[in-house]
Amino acid sequence: MKTKFVSITINGRQYSVPEGEKIIAVCREAGIDIPALCYLEGISEEASCSLCVVEVTGAKTLLRSCVTAVSEGMEIFTGSPRVQNAIRINLELILADHPLDCMTCDSDGGCQLQDLAYSFGIKTSRFLDPEKVLCKKEKTSWDTNPFIQFTPAKCVLCGRCVNACSKQAVNDVIGFAMRGHGGKVSTPFDRGLEQTDCKFCAECVQACPVGALIE
Ligand code: SF4
Ligand code: SF4
Ligand code: FES
Repeated sequence: MKTKFVSITINGRQYSVPEGEKIIAVCREAGIDIPALCYLEGISEEASCSLCVVEVTGAKTLLRSCVTAVSEGMEIFTGSPRVQNAIRINLELILADHPLDCMTCDSDGGCQLQDLAYSFGIKTSRFLDPEKVLCKKEKTSWDTNPFIQFTPAKCVLCGRCVNACSKQAVNDVIGFAMRGHGGKVSTPFDRGLEQTDCKFCAECVQACPVGALIE
């Protein structure tokens, strides 16, 4: 089938893009960076981090660019004060129960959350809840193998590992035990990874944007 193109503007500049493409994809194709923690092109579209928000003329609210498709005449703004402010707040909300021990974290220098916080000049969170941070577990019962380590305290529940296991490893070994606050990544019956069909391919580790899953 022939691809239909639509005409849109991004930050005032006109582009002709395939109809139905996600805003985040066309922005990135145009060289415009969109912050995103939970989105992994073709693999994960959980729409849970709300860092990818953009302003679209006529829309009442900011839109998550990872799940919003482009349409004819769309006017998109990625760097307006409203967008920047929302991203900053959403980052601080993610950091509200995240241990701020970047300097000693195994992912120091390779963590997308750390990079985003740095680029938005965020050193701590206005919403930081030390009790919540302490409540988050350092270890989990299914982390008994010597190859892949999981630190729930660092997990931002983005879902990328779950989708990577399902779509890249085609294995469905890990999933969400619950959603929202109190949610966690787990294996069936919290069994150790070595007691599941896990192939230790590490696709989940590669997909993790923070230091929650490491080899
Ligand atoms: S190592 Fe591979 S098979 Fe095992 S949980 Fe991770 S993605 Fe799934
Ligand atoms: S372990 Fe990593 S990839 Fe998986 S949900 Fe947590 S932060 Fe996301
Ligand atoms: S990247 Fe869009 S909500 Fe996370």
